[in-house]
Amino acid sequence: MRPVRVVVLTGAGISAESGVRTFRDSGGLWEGHDVEAVATPEGFARDPELVQRFYDARRRAVAQATPNAAHRALVHLEEALGEDLLVVTQNVDDLHERAGSRRVVHMHGELLRAWCQECGRRHRWDGDLVDVPPCPACGERALRPDVVWFGEVPYELERIDRAVTACDLFVSVGTSGSVYPAAGYVALAASSGARTLELNLEPSEVSRFFDEVRTGPAAQLVPQWVEQLVPGLRA
Ligand code: OAD
Repeated sequence: MRPVRVVVLTGAGISAESGVRTFRDSGGLWEGHDVEAVATPEGFARDPELVQRFYDARRRAVAQATPNAAHRALVHLEEALGEDLLVVTQNVDDLHERAGSRRVVHMHGELLRAWCQECGRRHRWDGDLVDVPPCPACGERALRPDVVWFGEVPYELERIDRAVTACDLFVSVGTSGSVYPAAGYVALAASSGARTLELNLEPSEVSRFFDEVRTGPAAQLVPQWVEQLVPGLRA
């Protein structure tokens, strides 16, 4: 039997039970800031200190968080499926990797990376950026968080498109389905013949496109689903 190829799209909801706040908790505001102010190139140009402080605070919060049962279940699934599993995450935290996942694409970038606007190099970055530290490669003080802002193109779109169109099963976990292109992957997977499953605390904005929707916390739903897909696997 040919192994099943699976794409799992994750969003902020998978990290919620690790204590990382989701985006749309509070009426379009992120930690009291307008999205436009902290998540667009224009916002950064207008007030770089505010934006750096915002991401520095989020980087620190993520450092305090630990992976939960949903992240761990996806590690077990990767152990079973190997290259037939791809996790596509919209999250900028590193909880999938800290749980042990290896096949992860960060389509919206990573908090733990800094990108030099002068030389273009990217660096692993654990510390703050608000003090405008020099780029380790070129020495210029032009580092920004390596996260994708509104108006910018998400990363690795071709690789993701290939995986989504080739998969047999597309599963979305903990995402509101309000940001494209990620919100459109369910329709792409379905039109390519995949079965589709949504696991979310509540129905999302794109629930109607899924073959099946299960509602509840990811730390319960994801281990249950993994156990069902690969019986006997301890998730
Ligand atoms: P959202 O905050 O929009 O949605 C989180 C979803 O997770 C909601 O549908 C919640 O109901 C659900 N949720 C909350 N707690 C959960 C739990 N314990 N278990 C399961 N589900 C839970 O976050 P995203 O959909 O990830 O983009 O947001 C997508 C993108 O919008 C982000 O990557 C970010 C943001 O703007 C950029 O920064 C470019």
